[in-house]
Amino acid sequence: MSTPLRIAIIGDVHRQFDEYDVTQFNWSDYDWLLCTGDLSNYWHHEGLAVARQMARLQKPTLIVPGNHDTLTLPQLVAEIKEWSRLRRWLAWGQPHRLRQWRRALGPVQVGGYSVHPAPGVEDVAVVVARPFAMGGSVLHCQPQLKRQFGVGTMAESAARLCQLVEQSPQQRLIFLAHNGPTGLGSTRESIWGNDFQPEQGDFGDSDLREAIEFARQRGKTVLAVAAGHMHHHVKREGQRTWHLVQDGIHYINAARVPRIFEENGRTHHHIRLTILDGNVTVTQQLDADKRG
Ligand SMILES: [Fe+2]
Ligand SMILES: [Fe+2]
Repeated sequence: MSTPLRIAIIGDVHRQFDEYDVTQFNWSDYDWLLCTGDLSNYWHHEGLAVARQMARLQKPTLIVPGNHDTLTLPQLVAEIKEWSRLRRWLAWGQPHRLRQWRRALGPVQVGGYSVHPAPGVEDVAVVVARPFAMGGSVLHCQPQLKRQFGVGTMAESAARLCQLVEQSPQQRLIFLAHNGPTGLGSTRESIWGNDFQPEQGDFGDSDLREAIEFARQRGKTVLAVAAGHMHHHVKREGQRTWHLVQDGIHYINAARVPRIFEENGRTHHHIRLTILDGNVTVTQQLDADKRG
């Protein structure tokens, strides 16, 4: 492969995606835009507004739904609190909300337990992991995952991801997920470490870890794993690791939230991932909006 594959990873959006982003990405040299989800904060209509803005992107774009996408606020609370009966009851409107969300996103592809060949480059694919992931051992949004994918347990989720890896004809894989995998540290500053409980811990997803290890056992090359959910700013104070390389795999946490902020003017964040002849480079991009 001597054609470069240039990918922009857009981390958790949380309402921060404006006209400048649309223009910048449309005029950029990127071949592919990947987004880790969480378009809204707590309200579905906000997510639809962001989705309509993203629908104006003219580059191939792929998104994985996060735990703030197509859930209502009471449903999200029930998921966090693990109230099982309420979780089931509050999930009843999610298929309808997901249809609205997909429609609003227009040409943007919504992934989930899916494999997507890279545009213009042979032998590279993105495997999109479990939608609505939010860490821990619970299979969040289980009623929706069961309805949409037939996945009802964490073990079934891991098995489905491994099956996708097995069936993908491409040898080189990139994983796109909302939350990252386990196995990368258990302190509050770890790339997917728990910063919201005093005991800290590893807050990655075990099904994603299983799929990554399975891919390696099958002789595939895992180029990178891109996810978000655990925001860069650690609760109370500090910043978490956003990029590390382990066993040759680039792990990227793209969730700089807010992704648009004031720093020498209005600044927009995303991550640039370039793959050329098997070499992977990862850089954080801070673009200044000089319009104002
Ligand atoms: Fe999230
Ligand atoms: Fe988020």
